[in-house]
Amino acid sequence: MTMGDFMPNQGTVTLESRALTKTYFSTDPPTQVLGGIDLTVREGEFVVIMGASGSGKSTLLYSISGMDRPTSGNVLLEGRELTSLDDAEMAGVRLTRMGFVFQQAHFLSNLDVRDNILLPALKAAPKEKDAAIARVDALMERFGIAHVKDHGITQVSGGQLQRASICRALAGEPSILFADEPTGALNSSMSEEVMNALTDVHSDGTTVVMVTHDPGCAVRGDRVIYLRDGLLVDSRELGTWSAEQATQREDDLLAWLRDLGF
Ligand SMILES: Nc1ncnc2c1ncn2[C@@H]1O[C@H](COP(=O)(O)OP(=O)(O)OP(=O)(O)O)[C@@H](O)[C@H]1O
Ligand SMILES: [Mg+2]
Repeated sequence: MTMGDFMPNQGTVTLESRALTKTYFSTDPPTQVLGGIDLTVREGEFVVIMGASGSGKSTLLYSISGMDRPTSGNVLLEGRELTSLDDAEMAGVRLTRMGFVFQQAHFLSNLDVRDNILLPALKAAPKEKDAAIARVDALMERFGIAHVKDHGITQVSGGQLQRASICRALAGEPSILFADEPTGALNSSMSEEVMNALTDVHSDGTTVVMVTHDPGCAVRGDRVIYLRDGLLVDSRELGTWSAEQATQREDDLLAWLRDLGF
């Protein structure tokens, strides 16, 4: 098998990595975690990153989203080279073009749910507070959490909290949403709520790149890529999600994953 570029079939390219490597020099000997990743994500695509624990999924996600600096290689978002931006420019791109959802929400305990969601949008555009509030209220309505907007963050369920994280990630109207194990801390019904929300986000045209261990979540994607020891070893097109074909999609995906030794 070649380690070449696993390109999507069609569409405008929105995110690209070329020969991306990451080595941690804090260890002795240094740990190479990404061995040269060529990845292309097209506009509006939902790409899922899978692979065993320690294979480099989070490192890849952080390196392509500017949360962390790669050791070498290039990352282009909408044609713009991210690796040459300074920290302030990078922070600006993250605030205005990208949204992030993690396994834990990382909300501030002294703010209610809505104010937590609003925070990054206000930081990105302090003068447009009214517009941000209107967007956030509409998002909370859409994702079924409007009724908990005044609640403290310990007064909502894990699924509601993750839907709030998705609202926060979308409040700045990003073109791309990055998610690292967004359902990793949830039970299966809450996980389904969150995946329904992410499927909605994707069907609105937002590009989504998500790391997951869970094949039941991965089937929501258009394409799954597989990492092994910091290398992209395979990629599988799933086509557009449909709930009717969920079981078939999961069976196909599981067979592919088994062949890869997952
Ligand atoms: N700051 C760091 N310094 C040294 N090594 C690190 C650092 N961060 C991650 N690693 C190592 O890099 C490798 C990949 O880590 P990464 O978190 O990307 O894996 P992952 O695929 O996301 O795993 P998981 O499924 O457990 O989340 C691991 O071996 C990890 O120990
Ligand atoms: Mg990880």
